[in-house]
Amino acid sequence: MIAPSVLAADFGHLEREVQLVDRSEAAWVHVDVMDGRFVPNISFGFPVLRAVRRATTKPLDVHLMIVEPERYVARFAHDGADWVTFHLEATEDPLHCIHLIRESGAKVGVSIKPKTDVEALRPILDKVDMVLIMSVEPGFGGQKFIPESLDRIRALRAMADVVNQDLLIEVDGGISSENAHLLFEAGANVLVAGSSVFKAEDPEAEIHAMLEAR
Ligand code: DX5
Ligand code: ZN
Repeated sequence: MIAPSVLAADFGHLEREVQLVDRSEAAWVHVDVMDGRFVPNISFGFPVLRAVRRATTKPLDVHLMIVEPERYVARFAHDGADWVTFHLEATEDPLHCIHLIRESGAKVGVSIKPKTDVEALRPILDKVDMVLIMSVEPGFGGQKFIPESLDRIRALRAMADVVNQDLLIEVDGGISSENAHLLFEAGANVLVAGSSVFKAEDPEAEIHAMLEAR
């Protein structure tokens, strides 16, 4: 699956940009929320999420790069998130966070930054629907893919084979049709792509090319 990230879209024409994804072969729309504390950048919040929600019927995959995610997960689900992903590094109590997301009716994702050991996920791996492996430092679009991420995906897939065979692995940062095949080969199920899609001359063709890489 491909999940284009609206962070790289033209916000002056957000509806048009989201509709472009809606028409395409992409499975989900990825929505990056940044609070200026967990990451050194601020993106957008609830009103923009609601505008994205109105522009597509595809599932919204909300990636929370915010501290104390437990304070807000239910509100993101209420405002249109089908998937709510929080950062393991951002909370003292991941189990509580998972519980709150489940209670809200959304699917549960947990994300780790490039320097966090995948082993840190082991205690909660059977309790989540998805793990999002960051393949760049979170906070900004348009960065270069970190090649070591491939080994991290393989290690996570091996762990999941034992405790949670249905686990989806999503990867985010520096992904395009150039490296998509490496990620699918390593065991990823969902690829997030911001700049490669929205800055492409033909975004739908770029999405198609990434899927062809499987
Ligand atoms: C980065 C965000 C990404 C970002 C990816 O912190 O989580 O989703 O939009 O952008 P590209 O695909 O340009 O690396
Ligand atoms: Zn993201």
